[in-house]
Amino acid sequence: MKKWKVAVIGCGCFANSQYLPNVTKEANAELVAAVDIVFERAESACRRFGVPNAYHDVYELIEKCDFDVAIDAASIQAHHEINMAVLNAGKHLISQKPAAPTVELLTEQIRLAEEKGLKFACAPIHPMRYDLNFAKQLIRDGAIGRAYYAKCNMSHGGPEYFQYRDADPSWFYEPGAGALVDMGVHGLQIVTSLFGAAESVACTALVTTPRREVRSGAFNGKIIEADRMPDQYLITLRFPGDRMALVDSGFSQKASRAPQLEIFGDEGTLAFTKPYMTNPRPELYTDCPERGMRGWMTPEEWVSPQKKLISQCCILRDLIEAVEQDKTPLLSAYHARHILEIMCKIPEAIESGATIRLETKF
Ligand SMILES: NC(=O)c1ccc[n+]([C@@H]2O[C@H](COP(=O)([O-])OP(=O)(O)OC[C@H]3O[C@@H](n4cnc5c(N)ncnc54)[C@H](O)[C@@H]3O)[C@@H](O)[C@H]2O)c1
Repeated sequence: MKKWKVAVIGCGCFANSQYLPNVTKEANAELVAAVDIVFERAESACRRFGVPNAYHDVYELIEKCDFDVAIDAASIQAHHEINMAVLNAGKHLISQKPAAPTVELLTEQIRLAEEKGLKFACAPIHPMRYDLNFAKQLIRDGAIGRAYYAKCNMSHGGPEYFQYRDADPSWFYEPGAGALVDMGVHGLQIVTSLFGAAESVACTALVTTPRREVRSGAFNGKIIEADRMPDQYLITLRFPGDRMALVDSGFSQKASRAPQLEIFGDEGTLAFTKPYMTNPRPELYTDCPERGMRGWMTPEEWVSPQKKLISQCCILRDLIEAVEQDKTPLLSAYHARHILEIMCKIPEAIESGATIRLETKF
């Protein structure tokens, strides 16, 4: 069996916690290169994870290294240029979100991948979650009757507050990044994984915290001006078949006890109250008058055993399966493009107060 050669581009907080330590655990793969424009970060990743080659940028990687798959984990504003360079070089690609700033540019990436016969997978990884897939199975089996509403709470207190960071997090508040594309994207991927492509979007948003202070790591105490984009969004989506979703997302909630996700149907509710990486089961409220009962339960699978995701590097497993079996990755660029369309239309929805139609499907 082929051992896949993987290069990680962008050796920041996420690559160090999810990709670099897990490449060899998630797939029959080896790390061959670490790349960062701050070269010491690439060198430090090499020392820490035993990676043989450090490079200054994607172009040096392409020129000097033999690799099969690149994982683009750089800061958001850098993704499109990196992704185009990787695909032009004829390599399979995993991109952190969002892969491009506009639908048109992501379409360019998708076309290039298709022309070159390359596989292209896009984060986040929610469609691979066992709890979400188990919930979808329960819905298909009628456990909550007709599922009509998903309510998703996907927020934290901001990257400068919530995660330990040694790289300067200021870029999260600069044009091209922001709470919508960094956090909202998760909620949008979750609800569209459940209900499919949405047909329209409306939104209201606020700037809650215009000046922020970094609270950990090498930049502890640094002040960030964060008033250029909202940091709290309430996004409503309509889906075909009389379904809707609310995504409450931002960098504005230092803590919350709300379930990350609830799905409501006319005969019950599914609630995701535990962290998804560690608990693979949603809780089920079922209203079952024919059996004289109603109440909460934790459903057990009995056909296949319970599974958990090990890390968000599971996206590598998805991509390599797609290459080996010549199929579209589950974490498809088409789904990512639909989510990107929603995010690109949200400023117009906020500005106009109107409901905006969506065009893309996946
Ligand atoms: N899926 C998740 O749950 C999740 C969580 C956090 C971050 N992310 C995503 O991961 C990506 C990185 O976020 P992070 O938190 O690790 O940020 P970070 O700032 O810690 O790391 C980004 C790294 O990319 C490097 N970089 C920037 N431009 C580059 C370029 N052109 N070429 C090579 N390296 C470059 C920076 O020097 C830095 O080391 C973002 O897309 C972010 O949205 C995802």
